[in-house]
Parts: sequence; structure tokens; C-alpha cells
Amino acid sequence: MIDGVPLHGGQLCQIAERFGIPVSQLIDFSANINPDGPPASALSSLRASLEDPRVLTDYPDLDEKELKRAIAGYVEAPTQSIVVANGFIPLLECALRTLRIRSCLVPVPAFVEYRRTLERADVAVIPHPVAAESNCRYEIDSMLASGHDAILLANPQNPSGVLTRGEVLRDLVRQAAERKITVLLDEAFIDYVPIESLKDDVAELPNLIVFRSVTKFHGIPGLRVAYAIANKLLAAALTDGLPPWSITTLAARGVAAALAEEGFGNRTRLLNESRKVQLRVGLEGMGISTYASAANFLLVRLPSHLDAASLWERLIVDHHVVLRNCANYEGLTAGHLRAAVRTQEQNRRLLAAVGSAIW
Ligand SMILES: Cc1ncc(COP(=O)(O)O)c(C=O)c1O
Repeated sequence: MIDGVPLHGGQLCQIAERFGIPVSQLIDFSANINPDGPPASALSSLRASLEDPRVLTDYPDLDEKELKRAIAGYVEAPTQSIVVANGFIPLLECALRTLRIRSCLVPVPAFVEYRRTLERADVAVIPHPVAAESNCRYEIDSMLASGHDAILLANPQNPSGVLTRGEVLRDLVRQAAERKITVLLDEAFIDYVPIESLKDDVAELPNLIVFRSVTKFHGIPGLRVAYAIANKLLAAALTDGLPPWSITTLAARGVAAALAEEGFGNRTRLLNESRKVQLRVGLEGMGISTYASAANFLLVRLPSHLDAASLWERLIVDHHVVLRNCANYEGLTAGHLRAAVRTQEQNRRLLAAVGSAIW
């Protein structure tokens, strides 16, 4: 925590300790985890795996063949273009090392670990504010103008959830290639709008790495698996640059099963859309505006008479409802909170809590 604000969403133990409320009584809207996950097949695969002692007594497969095959099937890409690790950050660190990135432009506000990871790797960070007034639109020309050797950006963005069309980013990557700039594209939330992914472009665009997550959409942050998609040569170099056995056999099997579950994706997208409308309409009915999010969360802009820090605290203390306190987002003005889209019942509870807290 810094100044009483957790670095990330989902830090319920810290919140419970600070406010003296049992964790079990808190309802978490601060981490953007699909409330309908994990897919049932992930759970049954994990249970079955525990019946097999080799899951514990044998080292994981060095090549992670089964996991990569499952991911390749899910994203419809060749297995040779898939790189896997125990989360997004190890993959990003590996990309920075492998490509010897020295300076990186980062549109802000953004996932707070971008800056922390770049700084740990001694990469100069060039923050590039995206304007709330332009609905956080990426300004492609100015993003290419400052002589850096990489751009690290998300689509959809976090914390706003704003989506940039794939064709716009494809154009960015092409123009970046002419200037020898690598594009590190974080698609942690793209499963909500898979049509806009650049996953199919990596063969043609060797200056592009697409980072993907199973954490949010499949609801399995605890397994710690993420993957990247890059052209085959680059994927091989990235794989070479990673430590061996970073993914446990158990996690690999759980993720493979999660990705293979039929119908989970379409069901999640449909439910998320209707629940997001429920939240947005409810908030806007109370005079609270939201950004146009394509993901499973809403960035909330409070009217000027409401103070974000005290509303955040009141929601926790009086209603046991935890939103993401956005005070530590570089480049985000005061007056914002972020709320995950949860089940209809839980969303109703959030709306009732906000209604009562701002009264
Ligand atoms: C935009 C973004 N990228 C990456 C991550 C990390 O994802 P993973 O759990 O796959 O490491 C997060 C987690 O909050 C995120 O918000």
C-alpha cells in the first residue's frame, strides 16, 4: 500500500487489515476477474491431475508442448509462434532483454506495472498522456514522433477499457517498423472483443509482440500463466531468454482445459455485455459518467462535488464494497474509480451502495 491505497486491484487482505473488516465480508470490484470463471473443465482437470502423482514428482515438460498446443488451438496460430511464462511481467521483461530495448513510450494512464517493469530493466520511460476529452484515443502520429525504440500499449486499455480498432493498431505497427520501433501490444482483455486482436499479424509484422492473458477472461489469476504471440524467429529467441520450468504442470493442465472449454467464451461475452449495460445505466442514472469500455470493467468519472478517495472509503466501510482506487494511475486526473463488471446480483449491490453513499 502507498498512502493507504493498494498498488493493484484485488488486494483484499490489505483492505481487510486497513479497515478491520473480515475478508470474507468484502465484495471485490477492484480486480477485473470474470465472475463466471474458472471454466468447469479447468477445475475438473486440476482435480484429476492431483490423482496423478507424476504431476508433482516429475519436472514440467521443458518445451511446454501440451500447453502451447492448447494455446495455439485457442488463438488459431502455429505453436512455434507461442511463448509461455508465469504471467505477463516475466514475458515483458524477457522481451525487453531479448530486444535490448533502451527507451519505451507508454500511453498513460496504463497498468501500473508497465512503468515498474521498465524501470527495473533500466529502460527509459516516455509517458504519453492520452486525453480523457478525446475518449482516451491513441494519437498514432505523436506516438511515433519521439525517437524511442519501443511502444508498450494495451488494447483494450486499462483502466479506461477503451478499444482501438485492430486496423488502426496494424497501421501503427507498420509505421513503427519503418522507424525501427518495436510494438509491445498487451491484449490482456482482448478476449472480450477477439475480432480486434493483432494475433494473426505477427508473421507479417516482425516488430510486433502480442501479449495475452488467461487471468481475467478465464478467471484464473491464481494459476499464473500468460502467453505471447510473435513471429516464429522472435518467439524462439524469447523462449530461449526465459528461465526453464516457470509454469507448474498443474497450472499448464488447468489452463489447457480452460481454453478448450466449448461455449465459455461466447457465454462470457454475452453476459458481460448485458451486465455492463446494467452497471453503466445504473451509474449514469446517478449522474456518474463512465468511459466506453470494451472490457469487463468501467472507469467511473465522478461529478466534481464527489471526492473519489472518500467515496472509495465509504463504500468499503459502510457497504463492504471494494472498488479500484485510481489515485496511483499516472496521467489520470482526480475523480476516478474503476469498477469490475460482476454478476447482476452483485452489480445491483454495488449500485445500491453507491446510491446510498452519495446521498
Ligand atoms: C493491462 C494488464 N496487462 C497485464 C496484466 C497482468 O496479467 P497476468 O495475470 O496475465 O500476468 C494485467 C493485470 O491486471 C493488466 O491489467
